[in-house]
Amino acid sequence: MKVLSRIVSAARRRLGATHFVAPPDAQTIDLDKAAVAANPFPHYDRLRAAGSVQFLPRHGFWIILEHDDARRALGDAETFSNAPYAGVDAVLLAADPPGQAAIRRLLSRRFASSNLGRLEERARDIARAVLRPEIDAVGGYAAPISRAVAAELIGFDAAAVAEISEGSVRALATSEPLAELIAVLDRIAPRASIFAELGDDAGGLVGDAEIRSLVRLLWLAATTTTERVIAHAILRLADDPDLTARIGSNRVLLGPFIEEVMRLHPPEHLLPRLATRSVETAGVTIPANALVQICVAAANRDPAHFDRPHDLLLDRPQKRHLAFGSGIHHCLGAPLSRRVVAASLDILLDAAGDLRLRAPAQTLPFFKTASALSPTELPIAL
Ligand code: HEM
Repeated sequence: MKVLSRIVSAARRRLGATHFVAPPDAQTIDLDKAAVAANPFPHYDRLRAAGSVQFLPRHGFWIILEHDDARRALGDAETFSNAPYAGVDAVLLAADPPGQAAIRRLLSRRFASSNLGRLEERARDIARAVLRPEIDAVGGYAAPISRAVAAELIGFDAAAVAEISEGSVRALATSEPLAELIAVLDRIAPRASIFAELGDDAGGLVGDAEIRSLVRLLWLAATTTTERVIAHAILRLADDPDLTARIGSNRVLLGPFIEEVMRLHPPEHLLPRLATRSVETAGVTIPANALVQICVAAANRDPAHFDRPHDLLLDRPQKRHLAFGSGIHHCLGAPLSRRVVAASLDILLDAAGDLRLRAPAQTLPFFKTASALSPTELPIAL
């Protein structure tokens, strides 16, 4: 397949990018269709084999699928702008160079290693407090741990977290759940202790509206992502007693296990970008002003980069996956979330005599869209 893809890419380069005709899969595929979203990986494989860069007419965006091309695009913020995130946060996540760097420095102090130790302890305390012999590992475990850590980082008290949780549930019943949740977060942002601290630290660099946006970004970036990784990790463990026994008796394996879970199940499959100019990528010309989706879920399973790309291998040689992105917007919370996920699994493994699913795996409900695939309920017994 790989050889075929290289021949096709080479032929396309010879022909010139303008002669590029999207292969049949790209013409018709709908990544939001339930059957595709439930297991997009074979679809990514077929698309990638036909070429790293494709236009998907059903979505109206370009998609980048090969690891090296994805990493290159993530590293070229001037050509591939983060502008599509403007509705989430225009101050850091959607900001482009040079403005983004100063804001990033402002926030980076919150992720100093002394702070991370305290936040990991918070994760451990909550994990111990909420764990039960029978539990929904998403709503009863991964979610409260992720939210408690985010609340501690941002300085939201329990009442604020309860308001956000209620707001999230209400938001799900609306046609614009993200906009609804953002409205709740914006209302209570000034109650976060980080709100005043950032104002003091910023020395006039940002005002109240920008700080509100950063508080909102921190909450949105920290919670669902971490929750999804913990959920996928527990699903893998509950589904594979040998794997659980190996990791349970040798916790050094927890680190490589978590990296593999994030590689195989990145919480966001598509990272959106706007092409600021016409750009040739893998022999294909992406026009100026095009919406581009960098498919990290496909890049993380690129057979040219990872041997046995669909298998979870604890002894895989270190090759960096793209679950945390890359380049100037590389996830600021990556070291924190690694520690929080590890702490959650460590406490779970300490308590687990015989970790198992309490429902057949094929009946579990999943959140399924073009950009994410994650269990929403995970009934387990320890
Ligand atoms: C496993 C958990 C997490 C994953 C997989 C993840 C993934 C990502 C990704 C892919 C990006 C880059 C988006 C892009 O370039 O399009 C990002 C950015 C970011 N993440 Fe995370 N994230 C996680 C947890 C966290 C946590 C716990 C925090 C803490 C608050 C956090 C804070 C941020 C921030 C502030 C940015 C924006 C950085 C910038 O624009 O310069 N993330 N994250």
